[in-house]
Amino acid sequence: MDKGIFITFEGNDGSGKTTQIMLLADYLKKKGLEVVTLREPGGTAIGEKIRDILLDKGNRDMCPVTEMLLYAASRAQLVSSVIKPELERGRAVICDRFVDSSLAYQGFGRGLGTGNVWTVNRLAVDGCLPDMTFFMDIDADAAMARRCAKGGEADRIESEEMNFHRRVYAGYRELARQYPGRIRCIDVSRSPGEVFEEIRKYVDEFLEKSKR
Ligand code: TYD
Repeated sequence: MDKGIFITFEGNDGSGKTTQIMLLADYLKKKGLEVVTLREPGGTAIGEKIRDILLDKGNRDMCPVTEMLLYAASRAQLVSSVIKPELERGRAVICDRFVDSSLAYQGFGRGLGTGNVWTVNRLAVDGCLPDMTFFMDIDADAAMARRCAKGGEADRIESEEMNFHRRVYAGYRELARQYPGRIRCIDVSRSPGEVFEEIRKYVDEFLEKSKR
């Protein structure tokens, strides 16, 4: 059986990942692929419990290392019980955030450094890296304005000071420079339809190359 395709979406809070994930899932289904959409942290019963701890505003005193380990714990569970088996079945797995979120938020945002984040996450991802990653490129201030316009209560991470979100954004830009083959920067200042056209083009090229 063919190995599936693993696509992840990244970006600051409010960068518009959700719309693009829905458009891509529909597109791939229409092409005849079986699609699984997931989110991090979460995506498994254990992961959803970890998510509640991570996003609970009551946990204001969580230290950065605990935070890094909990994101990695949720990820390890998702990789072993969902992502790997689904890819083995030949499915297209689309994940809202993955290891790049830990590199950007904990590595750059919290200042733990990408070396430490990789040390922990090498175990969590167990060799399972995305075939392609779309970085929704919108600066932290503009993304936060979009996030606030949507309404709803901010979670523990969203409630961080703006400088934290600015470091996260700079971190993503740096990761995109480090992994140009895997991470595609997508300018999301355009309409959702235009943004999706670019994403669709990259995905089609990848499918064509791997003849799926
Ligand atoms: P979520 O509500 O899923 O945010 P979004 O809709 O923007 O993806 O909350 C996930 C939050 O956790 C988000 O603020 C980013 C953060 N995060 C990390 O800090 N590190 C990680 O490894 C992951 C996966 C998420």
